[in-house]
Amino acid sequence: MIALGCDHGGYALMQEIKEHLAEMGEEFKDYGTFDESPVDYPIFAKQVANAILDGTADKGILICGTGIGISIAANRFEGIRCAHCHDVYSAKATRLHNNANVLAMGGRVVGPGLANMIVDTFLKTPFSGEERHIRRIEMIED
Ligand code: RB5
Repeated sequence: MIALGCDHGGYALMQEIKEHLAEMGEEFKDYGTFDESPVDYPIFAKQVANAILDGTADKGILICGTGIGISIAANRFEGIRCAHCHDVYSAKATRLHNNANVLAMGGRVVGPGLANMIVDTFLKTPFSGEERHIRRIEMIED
């Protein structure tokens, strides 16, 4: 299951991503926000982080205006590795190397076509499991 969270700056892009995930047959849960009224992005970062940490979700997608604030907020939770990606190469590399469990994007930065490709790449790329990457992740979480 994929946990979704956004603020007002990410709301429009999140609707596109939800439509895409549904077309792809991906199971997801939307933790809001549910319209474009101004809200505080840490609320939604926390809800998605908690859904992953308590085992409700395997991965998360977070969107704010830039993707920056919401990724900073998510990365404050131990066990969350949130990657702020606006290109497919980074989305692939962060799964292979960092075993990132949350993808963050900026709804005011990328369009839906690129965002959906980033999402697909993030979801389909497995962690490499290579010793050096495991060691580095353990060092982050130590
Ligand atoms: C909201 O205007 C905006 O600050 C927020 O969506 C995000 O870009 C923060 O990093």
